[in-house]
Amino acid sequence: MKVVVTGGCGFIGTNFIRYFIKKHPGYKILNIDKLTYAGNLENLKDFKKRKNYHFVKADICNALFMKKLFKKFKPDAVINFAAETHVDRSITAPSQFMKTNFLGVGTLLNLCLDFGIKGFLQVSTDEVYGSIEKGSFCENSLLTPSSPYAASKAGADGLVMAYHTTYKLPILITRTTNNYGPYQFPEKLIPLVILNALKNKKIPVYGNGMNVRDWIYVEDNCAAIDQVLHKGKIGEIYNIAGKCEKTNIQVIKTLLQILNVDESLITYVKDRPGHDQRYSLSMSKIKKQLGWQPKTSFARGIKKTIDWYQNNKTWLHNTQTGAYRKFYKQYYSKLGLKEK
Ligand SMILES: NC(=O)c1ccc[n+]([C@@H]2O[C@H](COP(=O)([O-])OP(=O)(O)OC[C@H]3O[C@@H](n4cnc5c(N)ncnc54)[C@H](O)[C@@H]3O)[C@@H](O)[C@H]2O)c1
Repeated sequence: MKVVVTGGCGFIGTNFIRYFIKKHPGYKILNIDKLTYAGNLENLKDFKKRKNYHFVKADICNALFMKKLFKKFKPDAVINFAAETHVDRSITAPSQFMKTNFLGVGTLLNLCLDFGIKGFLQVSTDEVYGSIEKGSFCENSLLTPSSPYAASKAGADGLVMAYHTTYKLPILITRTTNNYGPYQFPEKLIPLVILNALKNKKIPVYGNGMNVRDWIYVEDNCAAIDQVLHKGKIGEIYNIAGKCEKTNIQVIKTLLQILNVDESLITYVKDRPGHDQRYSLSMSKIKKQLGWQPKTSFARGIKKTIDWYQNNKTWLHNTQTGAYRKFYKQYYSKLGLKEK
């Protein structure tokens, strides 16, 4: 099988490609990534010489160049991780979120139709449902997104479903709760806390720190996406949950305790506008239909995550300073195509 993975140099995309190549050594993968501030080619540098792995730097919104790539690679399936993903950035500068997260998905859908792709999997988020006080959202719950990020993802989900209803495009959607693990850009809660704690810097917490998120170890999400791709029912949406709800302050205190760093670094700051109180997903559909459930406990996952960041301080440093960008210049695309 030939699979296009978009956004493969970001946090989940990197972990997914690592998981997917190991699980399916006979598959060919083309990783297409724009390499925004969140994309780091160095994450997969050990795959550079593998015959079944290709990387091309490109913007999913660039329909003409994307068409050239599809023509050359002839994918059977497309998995879309490419997105602008930081809620705070979507509040200060929403336009790029609308472009990549909605129009970019539209470009991919058109290509999938033109090239008769057998499966398009859109990686979506629990944030499309909005906040829930009690209970959990299931796949047919109403979408009430609160941030421009969540709204751009909800819009994309609608577009993906419309291409299935109108054109019978074989699509799948996964909606996942908060992922954590290696290779996450240190603007998101867990790597930010680890980084600041290691540097003895203040740790900002929005509002009273009582917002609840459900945490899933990234490798469990990768396994779920793989199962949905191979065994999911075409045209369906699958929630993927960690079944591990925690307040932000609980997560921060757990990290500080393991790192043996004083809680006095915690600094409460003005709440984010439109900050959702609680996210929670029911995962009974994926459990019943595909037999998937998360394997990694929070205690084990967080230990593995902290170990990884502690053992990869250069990665953290390069990511923060942008030093990893030097690496791009040495990169040569084996497909022989370059975006202008
Ligand atoms: N991280 C989470 O907890 C989480 C939870 C639920 C869903 N998701 C979804 O999973 C996907 C991946 O999230 P992540 O945390 O890995 O994000 P990330 O920000 O770490 O990575 C995004 C990747 O997309 C690339 N990209 C951005 N714009 C692009 C464009 N126009 N063309 C090509 N590539 C582009 C970036 O360079 C980067 O490599 C996203 O769609 C996100 O909405 C993430």
